[in-house]
Amino acid sequence: MIDQSASPAEPGADDRWWRDGVVYQVYPRSFADSNGDGVGDLAGLIEHLDHLAGGPESLGVDAIWLSPIYPSPMLDGGYDVSDYSAVDPLFGTLADFDRLIEACHRRGTRVILDLVMNHTSSQHPWFVHSRQSASGPFADFYLWRDPSGWSADGQPEPPNNWVSWFGGSAWEWEPLRGQFYLHTFLPEQPDVNWRSPALRRAMWSMVKGWLGHGVDGFRLDVFNAFLKAADLPSNPEIAASGSAPWDRQEHRYDKDQPELHELLAEFRAIVDARPGTATVGELFTSGIDVAVAYWAPRHLIFDWVLLDATWTAASFRTAIAAREAAWGDRWPTIALSNHDHSRHLSRYLDALGPHDGHAADAVAKAAATIELTLRGTPFLYYGEEIGAQDITVPRELARDRAALRMPEWWNRDGCRAPMAWSGATNAGFTSGAPWLPLPPDARTRNVEREAASERSVLAHYRRLLALRRRSPALRSGDLALVDVGDPDVLAYLRRAGDETALVVVRFDGRTGKIELPQAATPWRVALSSHDLATPTVGSRLTLRPFEAIVLAHTMHG
Ligand code: NOJ
Repeated sequence: MIDQSASPAEPGADDRWWRDGVVYQVYPRSFADSNGDGVGDLAGLIEHLDHLAGGPESLGVDAIWLSPIYPSPMLDGGYDVSDYSAVDPLFGTLADFDRLIEACHRRGTRVILDLVMNHTSSQHPWFVHSRQSASGPFADFYLWRDPSGWSADGQPEPPNNWVSWFGGSAWEWEPLRGQFYLHTFLPEQPDVNWRSPALRRAMWSMVKGWLGHGVDGFRLDVFNAFLKAADLPSNPEIAASGSAPWDRQEHRYDKDQPELHELLAEFRAIVDARPGTATVGELFTSGIDVAVAYWAPRHLIFDWVLLDATWTAASFRTAIAAREAAWGDRWPTIALSNHDHSRHLSRYLDALGPHDGHAADAVAKAAATIELTLRGTPFLYYGEEIGAQDITVPRELARDRAALRMPEWWNRDGCRAPMAWSGATNAGFTSGAPWLPLPPDARTRNVEREAASERSVLAHYRRLLALRRRSPALRSGDLALVDVGDPDVLAYLRRAGDETALVVVRFDGRTGKIELPQAATPWRVALSSHDLATPTVGSRLTLRPFEAIVLAHTMHG
């Protein structure tokens, strides 16, 4: 059992990337297409690594996280894996993957692979065998149960009341085997049985296989759902707590089981055997206190408090205070966007109402300033560095077939648009027909154009990453919220050794003065979202609409 009261150990100097670094999520379908089939691939990603790291013009990230690249029927964007040990031909080959690892490592960039181990695709050979009969080597690889009874018209009744995240019962009847199987997600994504020793061995051998390819870590998809209560009791129903069936139950038995800590310890021992590796767990619909309980050094956990914050200083203050209280001296993650949610810039701008392009850039820069100066490891989502927003995909053209099955359409296509690289045809993403529409502003909002302007969103991201790299306070210091006398301004101090940074961000479209906290030596502006010059300041500072400024001082001036 993991000792949850253990105090977080200091990592060795050689493997601080998971704490000090910045991770960049690549959604492989949408990043760069090398062969003209309209879908991004590994060769395309390799061609564009200069954008990410290793060159003078790079963003300067420390690691990339690849959303799933395994063979898959793609009913859930590759989170339905039919072969854990290969690369889907859509993305390339294992040889391309090895080239990617090599190219990244040459630049000092780590590679984090997405591990989808709560479920497989129904086309995975394990399930193809398992569904045939209740005997044989794969019989207990999934969660099979007899019906709880039979209805008056002779239909089998599901074993319990559990519901699928994507809607409907979590149980699917399999006539071949005469039993139900469990699927927390699509019926085509059967949940595996982690209580089967043979399944565990098969998963661990797969994990070792990828470590053998040189990966530096894993993102664990919905890890806290791996184990269900052994006897699968029904969940308590909650009266009208939300519109989705998932929200109308307390998920007491279908996730977050105490034995999970032991299972995670087994997994972590395998990963830890390879020095310099790290993992990040994707917490599935549980709160921040649950997230904290799963944390271990070098094994980060996503909580969703910041992603759920709305664009007001008050909302961010509350979220940051909740994080600081919950995480204590453990090390959190920072994520404002990912492939499952509307992009943060779109959410913030929607809430602000009518605005012009300047406001969009200013809000993108302000949000980036927060994301890259809070305490924790930032996870950027591809495209946010150029201020990309959601695209609109009408329901009849939707590619996200999983989300289409939700009772209310949850449009994940919107945040998965092809990356805009240049003003060329199809924004330089593909020479063919892109699998999803390009952002409508791709001609003007693209990497090439933004790289040429010192005032672009991209230039601001680069400056922020460079500043973070230079500043121990921003990378690893503690954090304290401060009051600067304006409720629409978020302000916090980061401190390490004799260096202090002060981050101030205006969330509204006004111009107004704020009071700076007293400091032994004068504050100087280290970076501003609105100015390239960095003037010295007195005890008061004027912040323009959506302006974000990082100030600094050391004991010695
Ligand atoms: C979480 C992933 O982020 C999401 O995209 C997917 O649909 C579910 N897990 C199921 O794997």
